[in-house]
Amino acid sequence: MKKTMVDDIQEGEIAALDVYDNCGNELIKKGAILKASLKTSLKKAGIYFLYSDDNEGSVHTVYKLKTLAELLQVMKCFIASNGENAEILKKYGKEEIKRFLSASNETGNKIAYGHIFRYFATEMVSSLNENKKQVYDFQDYRTIETYPEYHIVNAACITGVLAHNMGLKDEEKVDAITGALLCDIKMNQYKFIGENRELTGTEKEEMRQHPLLSFDMARKIYGIPARAALIALQHHERYDKGGYPKGIGGNDIGVLGKIAAIADVYDALTSSRPFRKVYTPSDAWHCIDSNIGILFDPAVAEEFKRSIPEYFPGDIVEVKDGDKAIVLENCYGKPQSPSIKIIEKKDKSAIISCSVKTQTIVKTLESIRQKEQQWEE
Ligand SMILES: [Fe+2]
Repeated sequence: MKKTMVDDIQEGEIAALDVYDNCGNELIKKGAILKASLKTSLKKAGIYFLYSDDNEGSVHTVYKLKTLAELLQVMKCFIASNGENAEILKKYGKEEIKRFLSASNETGNKIAYGHIFRYFATEMVSSLNENKKQVYDFQDYRTIETYPEYHIVNAACITGVLAHNMGLKDEEKVDAITGALLCDIKMNQYKFIGENRELTGTEKEEMRQHPLLSFDMARKIYGIPARAALIALQHHERYDKGGYPKGIGGNDIGVLGKIAAIADVYDALTSSRPFRKVYTPSDAWHCIDSNIGILFDPAVAEEFKRSIPEYFPGDIVEVKDGDKAIVLENCYGKPQSPSIKIIEKKDKSAIISCSVKTQTIVKTLESIRQKEQQWEE
């Protein structure tokens, strides 16, 4: 499996994963033969890379991509309508409403967003439960314009993985994912966020109210448990009491809030933003690592380091002896030792053995988000 920029797609390559656009439409099915003509439609959808199959390595998506594509649509609708149930009811038919209600053991046709969030969180937990421990190294196909919804969904994905690997109960995992989806639901009221610039001091100060506003809104949604809403309130609190809105720290912050805090920071850093350079997975991983016991709870951050690897499949890296390699596959608990394949010798000599190996990696030379950002610029 390798990451291929859309412009570099070769006729006949095989899609390694399904690809959905920002409206939830399936653009490419896993296993499909890629054609050069796809380049235009992919770029029109804001997609600049995809995963193609070269029979080597794999990416751990953990969740069903169809579920995530659908959840993204729900979040878009929720944010745009400020949580109005009427809007979501227009979108879904009787059968779908029945499906959403099934996760809450309710019948009838009265549905609220609480049921819908619970449905998706339950689906995600059943994917998590397919393996005892999960490593998560999937980078989705987001664009700058769609940052808010993708950020919410991806932070919820990471939250789920951490909650699962920490051995939390299913009910806690469902609440953790639900709460992570609610963290930034009031961010859309800050219109300056969409502007292509860094925020002023006053704007930053205003934004510090969003956990409180998101919490208040979450508490009013029928079917949202208090434990899930509390995550929205606490996701910017920090272990050393340096966060907001209340400035609480240590174990005064709930474990689910501590998990969502790390997921939120990590996903924000590895997302392409107009006002700063994107972090490679490795840079973001070290940023979490260097703040253990300062911003982040030690037990949660150590779990993060086992679950989210430093290098992602398809990253081009430099190994200790100066050779260039491609990252093939990660495994849980070994975040710095993925399997790799040498693709270029330091002295440009011929590569005699193409075998897969593990070697000390010195640095990331190319990651997909960096390439994406160059596209956007
Ligand atoms: Fe936030």
